Amino acid sequence: MPDHQKRALVTGGAGLIGSHLTDLLIREGWTVRILDNLEPNTHKQGKPAWVNPAAEFRQGEVQEYETMRAALEDIDVVFHQAAYGGYMPQMAKYVLVNSFGTAQMLEIIRDHNLPVKKVVVASSQVAYSEGAAYCPEHGNVVPKLRPVEQLRAGDFAVHCPVPVSGGVCGKVTASIPTPESTPGGGETVYGITKVDQERLVLLWGKQTGVPTVALRYSCTYGPRQSLFNPYTGVIAIFCTRLLNDQPPVVYEDGEQTRDLCFVEDIARANLLVATTDTLDGLPVNVGSGQATSVNRLARIIAEKLGKNIEPLTRGEFRPGEIRSLISDTSRIQSIGYKPSVTIEEGIGRYIDWIGTQGAVKDYFAEIEAGLRAKGIVQSVRA
Ligand SMILES: NC(=O)c1ccc[n+]([C@@H]2O[C@H](COP(=O)([O-])OP(=O)(O)OC[C@H]3O[C@@H](n4cnc5c(N)ncnc54)[C@H](O)[C@@H]3O)[C@@H](O)[C@H]2O)c1
Ligand SMILES: [Zn+2]
Repeated sequence: MPDHQKRALVTGGAGLIGSHLTDLLIREGWTVRILDNLEPNTHKQGKPAWVNPAAEFRQGEVQEYETMRAALEDIDVVFHQAAYGGYMPQMAKYVLVNSFGTAQMLEIIRDHNLPVKKVVVASSQVAYSEGAAYCPEHGNVVPKLRPVEQLRAGDFAVHCPVPVSGGVCGKVTASIPTPESTPGGGETVYGITKVDQERLVLLWGKQTGVPTVALRYSCTYGPRQSLFNPYTGVIAIFCTRLLNDQPPVVYEDGEQTRDLCFVEDIARANLLVATTDTLDGLPVNVGSGQATSVNRLARIIAEKLGKNIEPLTRGEFRPGEIRSLISDTSRIQSIGYKPSVTIEEGIGRYIDWIGTQGAVKDYFAEIEAGLRAKGIVQSVRA
């Protein structure tokens, strides 16, 4: 991209990913404008000190027409990171901020003929249902989300869905890396709206000819991940629990695996797709490509914090939760992406950062009962 085309709008630029992306863009010589509403769940103490002073900061809502129209003026690349996230109980707000906000943003760019040259949208691996899997009999298969009845019965495995005479195969499968071609999902309210955002952006790109990329992030963590939001960020929640001498609460049997990616790698992926046209028009996985079980994660964090506290496994599960999802990152590797931070190193860096943040309160305990009352967390039948 020529130098005069390096003006970025980073929505959600005060947040975890947006703020690291802002820092990277500024280091690379871009001019950055941030639009962020400083969502109170995430930013309990107001505007965080890490918002880069070299960026133009605007506080406002992405779903407000005039605010967004003004924020889009003189922008070459939009990095749309703002979203309402996590396992919050609301429904309408997800649709308003994520789905409606994105649709309206695209309309504004089109209807005002704004000279935006690329839109990169933060999608998520929740765009899949269950991760890709391998059946010992049928090879690579695409399982559906596990039925709630199965989870209630305490069976957390992912079974092969291939039809055989008299039903389905049903053999226990093993997790394999999930490529972008895997059929889509969106099995929670949040997930539905992330799929909306991705599809709206990619469709709009085809209609208008403006280059677009939807980055399907895996679970992202690192310094600046909110220590206040008990609904989102497994590493942050485990850290705040352990620092308060409370055991991390593990759902299912803790053997579910996640692809955990350090935030700086996610930021670099954004810059890479913004400055390369090879992957335009596509959904693109970005992650570590490595599987970490929730139990192992709890152990790594406890060890790094010097806490001898075992995680609490209480026979609970969250309907809609993916059992194992590891990103196949071949597509983004084809343009030079390579994750650079291991899980041990990344958690060490997050914990070092927490040490600079003063007293850390456990907000999880307060919301637990509400999660159960609303059915977001359920129990295995005794
Ligand atoms: N962190 C992850 O594991 C992960 C994984 C997959 C996808 N994502 C996506 O990446 C993006 C960034 O996530 P993050 O982890 O940095 O979250 P974050 O909560 O740290 O940052 C999001 C930022 O958006 C702002 N925001 C929220 N609602 C807004 C609104 N209505 N108007 C303007 N700003 C608003 C918040 O104040 C916050 O600063 C989101 O779109 C999220 O869905 C994150
Ligand atoms: Zn099978």
